[in-house]
Amino acid sequence: MQRCALTLVLAFSSAALALDNGLMRTPPMGWLAWERFRCDIDCQNDPQNCISETLFTDMADRLAEDGWRELGYVYINIDDCWSSKERDNQGRLQADPKRFPRGIPRLSRYIHDRGLKLGIYGDIGTHTCGGYPGTTLDKVQTDAQTFADWGIDMLKLDGCYSNSTYQELGYPMMSKALNATGRPIGYSCSWPAYQGGLPPKVNYTQLGQICNLWRNYADIQDSWDSVLGIVDWFFENQDVLQPAAGPGQWNDPDMLLIGDFGLSLDQSRAQMALWAIMAAPLFMSNDLRTISSGARAILQNKVAIGINQDQRGVQGRRLIKEKSGIEVYLRPLSNGASALVFFSRRTDMPYRYMTSLKTLGYTAGVYEAFDVFPEKRLPELKDTTEFVVSVNPSGVVMWYIYPAADWWKGAEPGRFSEKLIGPKFHRYANEAYAPLVL
Ligand code: GLA
Repeated sequence: MQRCALTLVLAFSSAALALDNGLMRTPPMGWLAWERFRCDIDCQNDPQNCISETLFTDMADRLAEDGWRELGYVYINIDDCWSSKERDNQGRLQADPKRFPRGIPRLSRYIHDRGLKLGIYGDIGTHTCGGYPGTTLDKVQTDAQTFADWGIDMLKLDGCYSNSTYQELGYPMMSKALNATGRPIGYSCSWPAYQGGLPPKVNYTQLGQICNLWRNYADIQDSWDSVLGIVDWFFENQDVLQPAAGPGQWNDPDMLLIGDFGLSLDQSRAQMALWAIMAAPLFMSNDLRTISSGARAILQNKVAIGINQDQRGVQGRRLIKEKSGIEVYLRPLSNGASALVFFSRRTDMPYRYMTSLKTLGYTAGVYEAFDVFPEKRLPELKDTTEFVVSVNPSGVVMWYIYPAADWWKGAEPGRFSEKLIGPKFHRYANEAYAPLVL
């Protein structure tokens, strides 16, 4: 367990270099207002929940004081409906003066003072999805500069009220404009979500060059159905999506619902596990002021976070879809480690699934495993050892697996079997094996 924890701690400190703006070498983590608080602008009747500076300072306090920040949840992101309906007399966006009386620069200082980063939302079109002023092409530079002047650290650029030609010009233009400000600003592009998420309309090579993350698919809603729809789409299209991800460039299946109303605790663990397998950005959209201890424990699970944040940045894949409704997912991690998720789509009772690491494509050897959600170390496993996992309905069992210490020192490198996963994983997957760092 100690080694496992240490490896995961090391995985938190990845170097920020290369790829364009050098940001987000591991998937960004934080909090995003949209799914939970939407476009509630009724501060008179609903002061606690409306989109206002109070909401963001409240959440910033929680992130900073309740152990979130230390785990990596550092972004606090404003979404739609923050701005005034009119630009100012110099053509710049401005916050709604009633709901953000002290303006965004003050909010930004508040956030930075607490060791956090501030994200904001815009739209490459005439209007945002909520009907607020959009960023037309002639306003791209102005808005990039305004955000930089305000101390913004991340921009989500939506694509309502525009068309494909406009987006083709606008998304790369904003990327350049953000870089030109000289301020490092993480860039989230909704572009692919507006173009069906798949080639030939979507060019993932180009997206990797201009955006740090991108929404590929539909908006998440507060229900298990919505999570399943997203999971289905992402893994059905894994041959296209999985190679697109890597350090600094991430597929974004949308926010975490954990702590809201729609998911059971088992379903919440499933979302956390599958988002970790997908190397997805971890943006919670919940109320951190009232979150239950059960939801908090899932979101603050260090091993699940460590897997999500693995510095190699290889997105995982679905390996197996059993007729029984059990599915197996795998993500290769640094230092010969890997994450396995057993997921049940059943609706009856916990299912006892029997397999072995060999069956799942692991090479011969002895492995150690850590059961992520009960936070328990498991007995050593040989690749040939048959084991049973009991998977709850709409739940997961997630394991962090690594070659046993006395095995890797003298023996064969713990590569993954080419046959099962090798050619399908992109370039990082079969890099030379490196021993665990102790
Ligand atoms: C779109 C986006 C959502 C959210 C809303 C805001 O639907 O996909 O994530 O930003 O707009 O209006």
